[in-house]
Amino acid sequence: MFKLAAAFTSLIALAAAQTVAEWGQCGGIGWTGGTVCVAGTSCNVINAYYSQCLPGAASAPPPPPTTTVSSPGGGSTVTGSAPTGLSSIPASTLTQFNNFGTNPNNVAMYVYKPKKVLSSPPLIVASHYCQGTAQAYFQGSKFASLAETYGYVVIFPSSPHSGTCWDVSSDETLTHNGGSDSLSIANAARFAVSNWGVDPNRVFAVGTSSGAMMTSVLAGAYPDVFKAGIVDSGVAFGCFAVPGQPEDSWNSQCAEGQLILTGAQWAAKVTAAFPGFTGTRPKMQVWHGTADTTLYPQNFFEEIKQWTTVFGYPASPVSNVTESYLPGGYSNSTFGPNFQAILAQGVGHTVPLFEQQYLQFLGIA
Ligand SMILES: *[C@@H]1O[C@H](CO)[C@@H](O)[C@H](O)[C@H]1NC(C)=O
Ligand SMILES: *[C@@H]1O[C@H](CO)[C@@H](O)[C@H](O)[C@H]1NC(C)=O
Repeated sequence: MFKLAAAFTSLIALAAAQTVAEWGQCGGIGWTGGTVCVAGTSCNVINAYYSQCLPGAASAPPPPPTTTVSSPGGGSTVTGSAPTGLSSIPASTLTQFNNFGTNPNNVAMYVYKPKKVLSSPPLIVASHYCQGTAQAYFQGSKFASLAETYGYVVIFPSSPHSGTCWDVSSDETLTHNGGSDSLSIANAARFAVSNWGVDPNRVFAVGTSSGAMMTSVLAGAYPDVFKAGIVDSGVAFGCFAVPGQPEDSWNSQCAEGQLILTGAQWAAKVTAAFPGFTGTRPKMQVWHGTADTTLYPQNFFEEIKQWTTVFGYPASPVSNVTESYLPGGYSNSTFGPNFQAILAQGVGHTVPLFEQQYLQFLGIA
């Protein structure tokens, strides 16, 4: 015990001594690396899990979404039966809804409707990371505040599992209409189309970490429901599979980037999830950091093999460029109109959210 404590102390001392490069991670829950940024940069809190060395002086932590958004902890969350139409959902308030269809694990489902909603609005389903909740992702992202600008609807599912990771490992969740968490989320999206007038051609999934893995699952198993997926620091569809084990199992082989398959093998997993499907696959955008030690960066390259094969795109990008609105060290590789992969040099787990860029990819902004 004392030895362990001593080891930790020296580890912390060691970590503090390391200088973190520009754009590198310098803090966050579970972070054991360096916390001192290289000269000319300073450590900025991006979210509870991620602080980053950015050029210039430290800025204040990001403000809560907007002042018009009621705090979900403030007693304004309404719990009740399913709204039968968009008009029954209170505006600009994170609101729980029930009775949206089969919900095997009792996933809690929340909706955010802005003050002004487009007619036939797009829907974004935003799935949180492990240890997260619908409320935490709602507060820590701009998906809700940007809905006020662009008039789309957001669903924030909340994981029922201890540790609040998503089930991205069971046969049920990896199979179209097979059950578990992915079915609940797909059913909530279907409910939004049937009852709230959401445009079925603009139903999108985004997520971070475990929520990114869930986004891959939704894109693979429910291509009829989701028209696009944005995967922030996740893995390929099926990579986390642990058949015969409890739902929501950890797959360290995949996490550590040791599950290396061919594009054809990865694509076969997607096809097997919904064998009868002949429609258009959701367009995909994946983001990953090269310093990710939770879901190793090899997963980025496995995702590329998977989706380029699914789309029949070349294995190498047709363009790989830096973008003026992204930090230095970020490269945007385009493989075809429906697949882009952004690699962030020196960024750990997870890549910070770039909501405005996501909205462009989704055709909302
Ligand atoms: C794009 O270019 C960057 C910088 O040279 C490189 O690190 C990255 O691996 C490339 N991305 C892809 C997908 O080839
Ligand atoms: C990546 O490049 C494509 C093609 O130019 C562009 O449409 C897309 O917006 C870019 N994505 C990001 C995140 O910069």
